[in-house]
Amino acid sequence: MADVTLQHKPLITLSHKALANWVMETALLCEADSIRWCDGSQEEWDELTNELVERGTLIRLNPELHPNSFLARSHPSDTARVEDRTFICSRREGDAGPMNHWRDPDSMRSLLIEKFRGCMRGRTMYVVPFCMGPLDSPLALVGIEITDSPYVVVSMRIMCNMGERVLRKLGSDGPFVPCLHSVGAPLDPEQKDAAWPCNDEKYIVHFPETREVWSYGSGYGGNALLGKKCVALRIASTIARDNRWMAEHMLIMGLEAPDGLKTYITAAFPSSCGKTNLAMIVPPERYRDMGWKTTLVGDDIAWLWPGKTGKLHAINPERGFFGVAPGTSWQSNPGAMHAMSRNTIFTNVALTDELGVWWEGLSPPPAHLIDWTGNDWNPHCGRLAAHPNSRFTAPADQCPNIDPDWQNPEGVPIDAIVFGGRRPTTLPLVFQAFDWTHGVFLGATQGSETTAAATGQVGTVRRDPMAMLPFCGYNMGDYFGHWLEMRKHIQRLPRIFHVNWFRKNPNGKFLWPGFRENMRVLEWIVNRCHGRIPGHETPIGWTPDWVDFCVDGLDGFDEAQFDAAMQFSREEWLAEIMSQEEFFLRLYHHMPKELLCQRELLMARMA
Ligand code: GTP
Ligand code: SPV
Ligand code: MN
Repeated sequence: MADVTLQHKPLITLSHKALANWVMETALLCEADSIRWCDGSQEEWDELTNELVERGTLIRLNPELHPNSFLARSHPSDTARVEDRTFICSRREGDAGPMNHWRDPDSMRSLLIEKFRGCMRGRTMYVVPFCMGPLDSPLALVGIEITDSPYVVVSMRIMCNMGERVLRKLGSDGPFVPCLHSVGAPLDPEQKDAAWPCNDEKYIVHFPETREVWSYGSGYGGNALLGKKCVALRIASTIARDNRWMAEHMLIMGLEAPDGLKTYITAAFPSSCGKTNLAMIVPPERYRDMGWKTTLVGDDIAWLWPGKTGKLHAINPERGFFGVAPGTSWQSNPGAMHAMSRNTIFTNVALTDELGVWWEGLSPPPAHLIDWTGNDWNPHCGRLAAHPNSRFTAPADQCPNIDPDWQNPEGVPIDAIVFGGRRPTTLPLVFQAFDWTHGVFLGATQGSETTAAATGQVGTVRRDPMAMLPFCGYNMGDYFGHWLEMRKHIQRLPRIFHVNWFRKNPNGKFLWPGFRENMRVLEWIVNRCHGRIPGHETPIGWTPDWVDFCVDGLDGFDEAQFDAAMQFSREEWLAEIMSQEEFFLRLYHHMPKELLCQRELLMARMA
């Protein structure tokens, strides 16, 4: 066993016995060389980033282009979440449900203890106190991440409340979610460290009943920044179910109409399907001239509860963005470009000769780059310069249109919930659910073409209910039940919509221009929420009439193109309903009857 030395003492006296015990036990198990309590200060950031630059994990970018910003290149085997290595260890298998990988908690714990034994040899063990949600929010959730990755420490500082103020909130006996993380790469005394240490064998493990997370083998994104998907979604979804709130994979944004009326909406799209883009939308000039304003509250996670106004209220439990880089540009998303202009960590993008960053879709390709694997690149070499799941980690308050209430512990009142995904066929540009239960059915049957954020084949449609398939910490059927149950506790229900920016014509071209033009769809949604315009009743829901849908200034987008984007095909919908049934069958034992009934009603309306 290694001698454990306390390298840095916490700035406040630690009186929390359970925390002190867990940290010491963990240091002994993992055989860490030393322990560092992280305070979240600028000095700590400077020290750790300098150390990471020396080790070759980070490259300091040109301070004139990107002040205080860095590039990291991960190991090619560690570039995304690993869904088949993600486990939910509830006592009963049925509580995890058929959409999760379940393991018995006792045997998983024994296995993990052996994995973690000695795994931090030669490394510093960092103790990272973090809080998801504003510190003064009633939903705020404190976690302690123990990690042997300084890259994780500096990323967590961007992504959440971190350090000393969290320990103060915790006091001497406050509850916390223990999150143990290791890259799984112990170092021998003579051994040179890898730039991106990790292990081929990965375990991302959740114990929903005891509210613990153990993550082994990966240093990347949602696998390693444990406050995000592991705590704020998988663990939080189980806490929310037990306490009448909801933890969702949703963006939150505000829309201010020319008459000053402000509407907040949330939207659940699967990974890499445009949440960040929509959350930061800058309306087309025409809308700005009219006086429309948009604000951003969150781009990935929403916690929702019945608030004081009788509406659902929402907070973003995060403080930063971990956004997809490819496709982001000054044209497609200026808000994101501003947000990542400084104090940002880029991972797996390409490096320019000026020590700037580049990715596909940013600008015309430069003549020479170093690609995300560290090799020379030119526009004719036939390889991507940036990994398709390359990302930027940036502070949310650097986005110019961050909402003034984004840290309000009361959250913002929600008028609409939008579901959507990448659907090349079948699903029209936009339609509205008849009521809450029908809306829950739309979310439950949501699907999308797979993307690079999840390992797996790109291009096949998979069901991804409420965009939560990889993130629900319990049985998906029970989760649907929880959505239906929430209706009883919300006095002023949000309206529910479904959108699809990704429908294509037979030549594979998108039928809708998307991006900032999505403002036109948002305008229709806002007007519908406030009963300002009629809808058109169809078998699938309420759809916009051409006369109520603004296309002014949309070059060449005429009624025929609108009809193509909105088109309803019986054949496509029959196939859709069959595929929904297949999915529902997998959840059979926990499936709420109301949703089976919704399917029957849909078929009846189509007949
Ligand atoms: P996660 O962070 O993985 O949860 O994803 P996200 O939902 O925030 O994804 P993001 O906004 O980063 O999605 C990026 C991808 O969506 C890029 O490939 C964009 O080109 C594409 N995208 C975003 N908005 C639109 C749109 O309106 N139309 C089309 N066609 N593509 C879009
Ligand atoms: C997602 O995949 O939905 C993400 C990225 O937001 S990660 O945090 O890596 O899960
Ligand atoms: Mn996400």
